[in-house]
Amino acid sequence: MNADDLKKQAAEAALEYVKGGIIGVGTGSTVNHFIDYLAGVKGKIEGTVSSSEASSERLKSHGIPVLDLNAAGELDIYIDGADESDHYLNLIKGGGGALTREKIIAGASKKFICIADESKLVDVLGSFPLPVEVIPMARSHVARQLVKMGGTPIWRENFVTDNGNAILDVHNLEIMKPREMENAINAIAGVVTTGIFAMRGADVLILGTEQGAKTVVPK
Ligand code: 5RP
Repeated sequence: MNADDLKKQAAEAALEYVKGGIIGVGTGSTVNHFIDYLAGVKGKIEGTVSSSEASSERLKSHGIPVLDLNAAGELDIYIDGADESDHYLNLIKGGGGALTREKIIAGASKKFICIADESKLVDVLGSFPLPVEVIPMARSHVARQLVKMGGTPIWRENFVTDNGNAILDVHNLEIMKPREMENAINAIAGVVTTGIFAMRGADVLILGTEQGAKTVVPK
């Protein structure tokens, strides 16, 4: 099976968690498969809260209502992908640039179900360049602070987030203490948020594997 088949497998397995109400929906190619499967059971749910304009468009194209988080209140579940997960279900997210809205919805949800192909499970976070969303005028300042922390930030040129901001992709970080690093990066003036999801990691990770969908809970 190729990576996309494994993503589909994880996405389909996540339907088991869809019981009703309003559900949080993330962003990315794995979530796109989830949205397509969700369309088949859309009568079960009241609607969704989406983490990006791209996901909102796809949801609406299936006739699935997209609601404002402020009106929806606390959500029971949030389904989203990841660029990396460690065995404690600390994540790196933001490959698609939607990290800030993803972190907000994850924080506003009782249960965060992460869906991914098995290549995303790693021992230590950091091989995938860490996305950091920054206010445009602070880009160089934030980059200098990230260099002091041992990283090599690269500006994602020709990319603007749904919030109108820039992304720095930080290479060469070995994230041994995800919570500490999340807080330290978030404390830099001009950072909107970092793609480390450790203060609010996933509760369940569904991995697509050659042996079928496998559920992982935090070690
Ligand atoms: C978007 C994300 C995605 O969840 C992450 O990039 C994984 O994407 P994919 O499912 O395409 O591998 O964080 O901001």
